[in-house]
Amino acid sequence: MELRCPVCGAPLRRRENAFACAAGHSFDLARQGYVNLLTVSQKHSKSPGDTKEQVNARRAFLSAGYYRPIAETLCRLAAPLEPRRIVDAGCGEGYYLDALRQALPQAELLGLDISKEAVRCAAGQYKVPTFLTATAAAMPLFDQSADLILSLFALTAAAEFHRVLTPGGHFLQVLAGEAHLLGLKSIIYPQLFHKEKISHPVLPGFSLAKSETLEFSFTLETQRDVENLLYMTPHVYRISREGLARLRATPRLTDRAQVIFNLYRKE
Ligand SMILES: C[S@@+](CC[C@H](N)C(=O)[O-])C[C@H]1O[C@@H](n2cnc3c(N)ncnc32)[C@H](O)[C@@H]1O
Ligand SMILES: [Zn+2]
Repeated sequence: MELRCPVCGAPLRRRENAFACAAGHSFDLARQGYVNLLTVSQKHSKSPGDTKEQVNARRAFLSAGYYRPIAETLCRLAAPLEPRRIVDAGCGEGYYLDALRQALPQAELLGLDISKEAVRCAAGQYKVPTFLTATAAAMPLFDQSADLILSLFALTAAAEFHRVLTPGGHFLQVLAGEAHLLGLKSIIYPQLFHKEKISHPVLPGFSLAKSETLEFSFTLETQRDVENLLYMTPHVYRISREGLARLRATPRLTDRAQVIFNLYRKE
């Protein structure tokens, strides 16, 4: 997929260890093989997105296979679309894009994430997809240049996804359902409040072609895995000292995932 300069919008060309546009804006290719296309004005903080600790926890948890049913469902839903160019917006450490690489070897894959730590970890492990540090809200890609955009437990930038998708292209949104990880939540919070979640958001310019809910149980056999799961979720930002102490005293946990797959088609 051709990359677009985040400063002036011109095409970026590969030059030895950098990508540069005709106007001379240049972006180094890191040793691990990723490119940082996040401009200073696109950053809300010095190190936006997931921290190294979160990325390492996600890598350990996902590579243990606990979320394999999510990767399998993703591949099953993506394959019939026969996408040639796939973008994972908020790709984290690259686990799901690697599953798609194996399922769809002909497809061109690009992963982007605002977290440099996540992209560094992804590119260090997986050589084939191209990984970029960039924001999903302003992707360094041209109009109508991707057939499928994914967002797994990450941002939905509907207008931007619409711009980058080809006519008739698809956006696959993967969300946590209301009953996702109730086991973890019941340890963290003294009381569980019922929070209504929108499972099938209306997205301007898209129609919902298909929706599936995946549910499965899994057992974390070590305290380390229990803590890794916490670091994968937004609960890590909300947990109290008492909640963390309870979690650290949990040597083993059986929990249930509830994950919603919404497949949107660009109108
Ligand atoms: C909950 S994680 C999910 C990661 C991955 N999709 C997965 O399921 O393993 C959300 C990811 O979105 C990234 N993120 C947050 N804001 C973003 C933005 N504006 N653009 C791109 N990525 C973003 C975070 O750095 C983080 O890696
Ligand atoms: Zn430029």
